[in-house]
Amino acid sequence: MPTAPAPRSRALHCVAVASVLANIGIVLTGGAVRLTGSGLGCPTWPRCTDQSYVVHGALGWHGVIEFGNRMLTFVLAAVALATVLVVWRARPRDLVARVLAVVLAVGVPAQAVLGGLTVLTDLNPWLVALHLMLSLAMIAVAVRLLHHVRGGAPSPPGPSPHPAVRWLVLATYAVTWMVVYLGTIVTGSGPHAGDVDSPRNGLNPVGVSQLHADAVFVLVGLTIGVLVAVHIAAAPAGAVRAARWLLAVELVQGLVGVVQYATDLPIVLVELHLLGACATVVAATALVLSVSPVRPARRGQRSSGSTATARNSSAR
Ligand code: HEM
Repeated sequence: MPTAPAPRSRALHCVAVASVLANIGIVLTGGAVRLTGSGLGCPTWPRCTDQSYVVHGALGWHGVIEFGNRMLTFVLAAVALATVLVVWRARPRDLVARVLAVVLAVGVPAQAVLGGLTVLTDLNPWLVALHLMLSLAMIAVAVRLLHHVRGGAPSPPGPSPHPAVRWLVLATYAVTWMVVYLGTIVTGSGPHAGDVDSPRNGLNPVGVSQLHADAVFVLVGLTIGVLVAVHIAAAPAGAVRAARWLLAVELVQGLVGVVQYATDLPIVLVELHLLGACATVVAATALVLSVSPVRPARRGQRSSGSTATARNSSAR
């Protein structure tokens, strides 16, 4: 069960927001690498070429794009490091924030190695899918951190949601991840491999797209169910708002998905669909957090004078 810390310093809030944005940013730049066919712009890893760690003119603009994306790893690493430092300096000590910050920091080298392996396997589509899934998971962890440093309850207090509502929300969350993973499999079967000579997963794009869309129908149905449930169960206003946001994001994202499918996957729409996938993960994670029971803050945390902690306690 998550704890409810006091809302913390502006610095903590800033690094948490930066973590969410940086991880979304790297998904979008990674998408741009793939969609411009620059996935093997630097043909090896960790060097760019066998002779050089850095890109050179002979590799053309594909090389510049891929190398540029590699360099962004350092921006992500800087944000992760700043997050760890700020969280460690925060008083009172906050174990949950520390664990989340470390997970985000460890995710950066893990992603760098996974990205390297995708290059070394000529952009194996299953590894490319895993690479995106790991980034989306890091976005979810960053949202969790942001929620935590905001004091655990961003919304005005209300009654604790019924356990059945929580289970419905968790089922919705599970289906969200299924939809996202199926999306990456559709990509692996489609034309945007990242390089003209890269392998595809061999699945029928029409069939997997249908499966992906069917899962989206289930997701939208479940989200409507959550929306009805939070109204009936008089759940906190934050949960109602989060459910509305998730449904709105799903509908827009679904529309983008259908249009990109019907128009043979123009790269601008595919990039927009990637942004929509990030937004879906953010909204779904926020929904889960909005119905999570919040434990009282520890004595030391409460002493920092948090109104939000008081609000949380009174909400239970
Ligand atoms: C909540 C709704 C949806 C979510 C969260 C979602 C998520 C995703 C994700 C994560 C990917 C992988 C992106 C990548 O690897 O670059 C993807 C790909 C794809 N999605 Fe969706 N999707 C949704 C709805 C739809 C719908 C309704 C369709 C309609 C058929 C659709 C069609 C596609 C197609 C064709 C691809 C492959 C794009 C490519 O080849 O690069 N999506 N989706």
